[in-house]
Amino acid sequence: SFLGIDLGTSGLRALLTDEGGAPLGSAERAYSVSHPHPGHSEQDPADWITALEDAVAELRAAHPEFAQLKGIGVAGHMHGATLLDAEDRVIRPCILWNDTRSHAEAVALDATEGVRDLSGNIVFPGFTAPKLEWVREHEPQNHARTAKVLLPAAYLNFYLTGDHVADMSDSAGTSWLDVGARDWSDTLLDAGHMRRDQMPRLVEGCEQAGLLRSELASVWGVTGPVTVAGGAGDNAAAACGIGALSEGQGFLSLGTSGVLLAARDGYRPAPETALHTFCHAVPGHWYQMGVMLAATDSLNWLASITGVSPAELTAELGDTLKAPGRVRFLPYLSGERTPHNDAAIRGSFTGLGTDTKRPDLTRAVLEGVAFGLRDSLEGLKQAGASLDTLMAIGGGTRSRHWLKLLATVFDLPLRLPAGGEFGAALGAARLSRIAATGADPADIVTPPETGEEITPDRDLVPAFDEAYAAFRAAYPAIREIQ
Ligand code: XUL
Repeated sequence: SFLGIDLGTSGLRALLTDEGGAPLGSAERAYSVSHPHPGHSEQDPADWITALEDAVAELRAAHPEFAQLKGIGVAGHMHGATLLDAEDRVIRPCILWNDTRSHAEAVALDATEGVRDLSGNIVFPGFTAPKLEWVREHEPQNHARTAKVLLPAAYLNFYLTGDHVADMSDSAGTSWLDVGARDWSDTLLDAGHMRRDQMPRLVEGCEQAGLLRSELASVWGVTGPVTVAGGAGDNAAAACGIGALSEGQGFLSLGTSGVLLAARDGYRPAPETALHTFCHAVPGHWYQMGVMLAATDSLNWLASITGVSPAELTAELGDTLKAPGRVRFLPYLSGERTPHNDAAIRGSFTGLGTDTKRPDLTRAVLEGVAFGLRDSLEGLKQAGASLDTLMAIGGGTRSRHWLKLLATVFDLPLRLPAGGEFGAALGAARLSRIAATGADPADIVTPPETGEEITPDRDLVPAFDEAYAAFRAAYPAIREIQ
């Protein structure tokens, strides 16, 4: 059997699959995020280990196949900085991807010559390198004691194998990796006041990172040697779960945040678009994605202030798409990454009238999120990505209205998976299967069956194009007055 672990921001999910990759069962454990100061977001890595051990205990008890475990893959929330001292002890809580304390350090690094060229990306405040600059400035003793910096997934790899080893896809989000060359960059490390010996060894996500430590193997009651794969950052793992590996394949994830991801066969960075360009978990592949910070979060916000649930709000709109209304919504409730790289901007409604009713606000919110994601689609097109169809996943896909709207705003069909498993945990399990068996990634990383295809409403495409142009014009104007 194979074990895929998704180390998420709010909890850990462990998925056991059989030898052929079919799901046998899963177990989940929650943990919390602490916010000791505004903008700070931290987690205790010990909580990840407890969650992993508890989830494994549950799977072992429920599934005799666990004893024949052959491989483990870990997917993790990206960019987090776990600092280890020379004795491999955790120095301070892990600083997470959504922590914005290092925004000034990010701006400084981003302006440093060569940094965008080598890392292929803007240095966003959530990335790892600016975090270490912050630690250097504010916690110099902790910085001086740092012998290794591990991303969350690499920290679990360390727990599993006893070795400091990280995969390319996650490492690409540090601003220390030469993303084109798939190696640590001395120039980038210098810019961030770090050294190569503080970095883990690099492997591809679908390669073997090491073997499960014999102590753990005996406690877990597994008989044979167990391959631990390099694993992946959660977005690359999700891409592996949904079968987005090669040019033309991608997905739209409509969750708390929104992600539009396209797999790429080559390295074509486009930092000016504020797209992320990262290594994929399979050699010779990269991916690009736009990240919107408040997708379903925007609808949830409207639900919370109106006292009407998101499902009721969208139900009020019915199933039939209408031409865009006059009310516009800018979905920047938490600032925005793509396309603005603007942590300070906040959202707004425009075009309100005395006749504006609640459903008009709901429509504006759904449209605003769709237009914000269209910005990412335009970025991907500008970077040369070809997308003919997109798989759509995430909680927001429960609204038919929203799906039809998105398909029309993108002028692209959206495919819904028929059901079953297709997330980051499955992607991680697949990586371990490739690492343990030497299978061809293209045979394992395949799309799920399509349940339904949502097609654009062609008659409304021009009207939404026009409304999108108005949406584009609103941001610079609103930024001026905030
Ligand atoms: C990607 C990012 C998030 C995290 C958390 O750049 O910051 O998607 O990986 O899931």
